[in-house]
Amino acid sequence: MSERLLGVIGSGTMGSGIAQAAATAGFMVATLDTEPSLVKAAYAKVEERLDRRVAKGKLPQHERDNIVERLHVAETLSHFKDAECVVEAVSEDLDLKRKIFGELEGVVSERTLLASNTSSLSIENIGEGLKRADRFLGMHFFNPAPVMKLVEIVRGPKTGEQAMVDARAVCTKLDKTAVKVKDSPGFIGNRVNRPFYLEALHLLETGEADIRSIDTAMREIGGFRMGPFELLDLIGVDINLRVTETVYHDFGKPDRFKPNAIQEKLVANGRFGRKSGCGFYDHSNNEPTPAYETQLKNSSSWQPTDALKEFAAMLEKPADRAMWIYARIFMAVMNEAALAADTIAIPRDVNLTMELGFNYPEGPLATADHVGLDVMQKLLAGFYEESGQHERYKANPLLDTRVAEENLGEKTSRGFLYHTL
Ligand SMILES: NC(=O)c1ccc[n+]([C@@H]2O[C@H](COP(=O)([O-])OP(=O)(O)OC[C@H]3O[C@@H](n4cnc5c(N)ncnc54)[C@H](O)[C@@H]3O)[C@@H](O)[C@H]2O)c1
Repeated sequence: MSERLLGVIGSGTMGSGIAQAAATAGFMVATLDTEPSLVKAAYAKVEERLDRRVAKGKLPQHERDNIVERLHVAETLSHFKDAECVVEAVSEDLDLKRKIFGELEGVVSERTLLASNTSSLSIENIGEGLKRADRFLGMHFFNPAPVMKLVEIVRGPKTGEQAMVDARAVCTKLDKTAVKVKDSPGFIGNRVNRPFYLEALHLLETGEADIRSIDTAMREIGGFRMGPFELLDLIGVDINLRVTETVYHDFGKPDRFKPNAIQEKLVANGRFGRKSGCGFYDHSNNEPTPAYETQLKNSSSWQPTDALKEFAAMLEKPADRAMWIYARIFMAVMNEAALAADTIAIPRDVNLTMELGFNYPEGPLATADHVGLDVMQKLLAGFYEESGQHERYKANPLLDTRVAEENLGEKTSRGFLYHTL
């Protein structure tokens, strides 16, 4: 068995990126698409990307040539017979993915890892009926795959322990950081990141803050590179809505993931963001200008409460309105992160996912530990009342347990994480 053959099925955005990352890491790569010409075209784009790096002096010519030599075109699934791992990255279609894995398991060796790069389908559903279900799991790469360091390894109900270990080893070879997560809607990242947008939309909808002040608060207080509305326009307001709808639907429609009417209306009107020229901002000029009229409330619910003051003091910033906006969004994210850490992944992996997959300046549970979980609990209780006892601010059991056990974060050496010198 050739230990280092990595198979890729689908040569689109993700498949070609995964192929590039794998060849760069020293794997022999074979990619299959519906037509060999599609793979060749995808490889031509990979070569262009590599050539740009050579031109910039970031990649030596001989290394570029070695990478290109490792890229092969597969004409049938049997090409993957001896592969260490095959990553499927075809269109997001359950029946198609099921069919592919059904055929693939019949031609590969017993040790081959069978991985799907799905972002929104359940690993359990894709793997249903597979004889080799113990070798089947999710390996969720991020776009652009050659650059992004994170892979969520998704464990289905029948995935074997050895497959999890082997998938981590493949990620290490790929120079990626692997996090482990149980099969569940949105895995870690697409779930924990939902409140980043949804809470911003709540603030906008209730007239408590406008687009500009929300984006500025997230950048200047939170240290994010972009605010939620700037990011929505960049990613595509429609693409982002689709992720929210899937997570909402697959969780059984809990209120906290309910898609926001403002976003739905924008999408219905073709306002997709930068790609359509207008979304939350108008992009027709050099300098984007807010394109959503906010009816600002006369008296917003913002108050410099003791909990907000303590939160701000720990972040070494004033307890002003911008801090309150940041806190409202951060606390909704932190609460979802804690729930994820209680149910689908360890706290460290939740933090890593948000840092490496979503460019958070710091994982939300690390910030919580720094501020203090007792302060988090008080702030959350205040926001719970302020929001009319909305479930997004209902303190989750993990936070309550940690506080009851006096594991308050850095100050007691243990919070969501351990803190030792
Ligand atoms: N685009 C992203 O940002 C992103 C990020 C993470 C995960 N994903 C997931 O990765 C997968 C692929 O997404 P994408 O954006 O690369 O899609 P894409 O549309 O760019 O590429 C899909 C490719 O699959 C090929 N294909 C279709 N049927 C096939 C078959 N029977 N055999 C072989 N190839 C076939 C298509 O020809 C196409 O080249 C999806 O499951 C998606 O959810 C996407």
